[in-house]
Amino acid sequence: MVTTDTQALPLVPRNPLSLRQLLAATREFHTGGEVLSAAGGPVTRIQFGPAWLMPPIVLVTSPEGIGDLLARNHVFGERCIVHDEVRHLAGDSLWVLPNERWVPRKRALQPVFTQHNVRRFGGHMSRAARALVDDWRAAGLQTGLDVDLDLACRRVTMQSLGRSILGLDLNERGDEIARSMHVASSYAADRALRPARTPRWLPTPRRRRARAAVATMLAVADEMLQACRADPTRDAPLVHALAAATDPETGERLSDRDICNDLLIFMLAGHDTTATALTHALWQLGRHPDVQDRLAAEVAELGDRELTPDDVPRLRYTRQVLDESLRLCPPAAGVGRLAVRDLAIGGYRVRAGSIVAVGIQAVHRDPALWRDPLAFDPDRFAADASATRSRWQFVPFAGGPRSCIGEHFALLETTLALATIVAATRIEARSDDFPVEVPYTTVAKGPIPVHVRPRTPPTPCS
Ligand code: HEM
Repeated sequence: MVTTDTQALPLVPRNPLSLRQLLAATREFHTGGEVLSAAGGPVTRIQFGPAWLMPPIVLVTSPEGIGDLLARNHVFGERCIVHDEVRHLAGDSLWVLPNERWVPRKRALQPVFTQHNVRRFGGHMSRAARALVDDWRAAGLQTGLDVDLDLACRRVTMQSLGRSILGLDLNERGDEIARSMHVASSYAADRALRPARTPRWLPTPRRRRARAAVATMLAVADEMLQACRADPTRDAPLVHALAAATDPETGERLSDRDICNDLLIFMLAGHDTTATALTHALWQLGRHPDVQDRLAAEVAELGDRELTPDDVPRLRYTRQVLDESLRLCPPAAGVGRLAVRDLAIGGYRVRAGSIVAVGIQAVHRDPALWRDPLAFDPDRFAADASATRSRWQFVPFAGGPRSCIGEHFALLETTLALATIVAATRIEARSDDFPVEVPYTTVAKGPIPVHVRPRTPPTPCS
């Protein structure tokens, strides 16, 4: 219950940067938040023109303000323009439904994604990661190999998500699905972030391509759904779970179209994000051999065998490495909401109609909150250090009711992949920076060159 008298609060102060600086900062979606909050404070208003022409953007980068938006006022923070674009392109799904219609869908899907349940469909990453190491072995790992980490991690992620989400070995179809996902998501994000848009009814070539890409992905999802309906023993637990999911209050099932839309959105929401998390973590390990050795020692304690989801609770340091990587390079650099009424955020009044953006990367790197914020130090996430930190200071999966439903799954998958790869190889980064591009989520701007060698010394021949 929010009791603050919103109207008594001061209006969010306007950011003092010049128009040119504001434009530059908002275009740099991931790093812009740090520039804007350094100049305008943790709750700052960016206004490019009169409100009737363009809604004000309010950027929030303080833990208190983020909690206000995502948890305490979540009902009044609606889906915004990016969600609308995806919805028009790919139909209703958990990610894009407006709050009221989202509630029953979330109720039906939540049990599928609990920490306990994701273990049923979350083990594929170990296998995909082992297959990657086998490929490296076949290509000459023994004598050292130069590889592009970006490409390797994208393939591993696609392979693993295809298996766990769709219940399908994507193999050669993986590249086609990856291409389709890229066409669809960059079309939607481009439109959402552009001030002047062509009307939706205009059949532009880009729009036609995006629609065709969505149709390709939906066809794969439908094929799997029908295959699972025909064969209840088929190994596709997530598809079966969605087909069986019911709203716990009304008992209603999801329609086939809804299930396919959700499968598609899980692939879209899960692929680039997980690939970025894995690539960035491995690249950081490639620059910090001491951290890498400590992680390898933790995995070695479990014995030389394929890791399973049940091992994850014992991979505590691996998880710390992952958290630190998600802090420095959060795959979602920010999320946005539309204020549907005046809101109290971080001690200020945000006017109804504003777009309210959470600067995830900015709060993760705020020097007032993190000591030496740009240093890679997984010990920040040791249990005692984390215990005193605000819940809203580290938000790679956002937070509140509309946080990432795939969080447990993504953490499980990425932890297993990191552990599996580092147990078998030594990684040396060949570059000191990690270039990214931000079509909507942050992705590596490959190649990310690394040198890999076997971790254990070769057994001497007798
Ligand atoms: C490291 C990996 C991931 C990160 C960092 C991440 C991050 C996020 C964030 C920040 C949001 C909030 C978006 C918003 O409010 O607009 C979100 C939502 C969502 N994510 Fe993830 N995600 C990851 C992996 C996944 C995976 C693997 C799946 C699918 C299995 C997934 C499915 C979703 C869905 C469906 C939503 C919308 C939830 C809702 O509105 O109820 N994500 N994710």
